[in-house]
Amino acid sequence: PAKAVAAMARQAPSSLAELNALIRATPAFVPGGTNAVLGEGPVGAALALVGEQPGDREDIEGRPFVGPAGQLLMKALAQAGLDRERLYLTNAVKHFKFAPRGKRRLHQTPTAGEVKHYRWWLDAELGFVRPRLVVALGATAALALSGEAVAVTTQRGPRPLGRHPGFVTLHPSYLLRLPDPVAQAQGFAALVADLRQARELAG
Ligand code: URA
Repeated sequence: PAKAVAAMARQAPSSLAELNALIRATPAFVPGGTNAVLGEGPVGAALALVGEQPGDREDIEGRPFVGPAGQLLMKALAQAGLDRERLYLTNAVKHFKFAPRGKRRLHQTPTAGEVKHYRWWLDAELGFVRPRLVVALGATAALALSGEAVAVTTQRGPRPLGRHPGFVTLHPSYLLRLPDPVAQAQGFAALVADLRQARELAG
């Protein structure tokens, strides 16, 4: 994979479309999904949101944030006054990493090494989109963007992420996994408040 990334860097794509063609043509760096799920949204979007990796639904449909976590995110975006169509949405890892269990495909968290293999792509795509603010949804995105481990629940809020003005908030999948409905509602309110603040910061 390191060689594949170096080879891509040498090809120096000159547009987001060229970069996406390269991503599509490169095999996954994680065990599991074979379909690259590319970023979505306009070049020049003021706000970019970065998730962890596509899930089962995203892998099937080939679009980011269309599964259960995506639906929760869309609800939070609506409450924060944000419109999906005007944002750039992408993931730190471009393939669904999973382990097969019978008919099911179980999500596996990407390792720090796997995240690193995908960083060149993420960095290159954000270089084309040039958002005013990049929101990391959860720890994997924060790691991919900054190269550092960020404790999301205690370090939410604005912070530089690599060379971007950034903002760290909760991942919607984390909220879906919380067993306590009260904690889940509080977490959702925190996500909405963060997205509203990010919207204001991005102008
Ligand atoms: N769907 C995505 O596209 N990304 C995530 O991080 C979670 C669900």
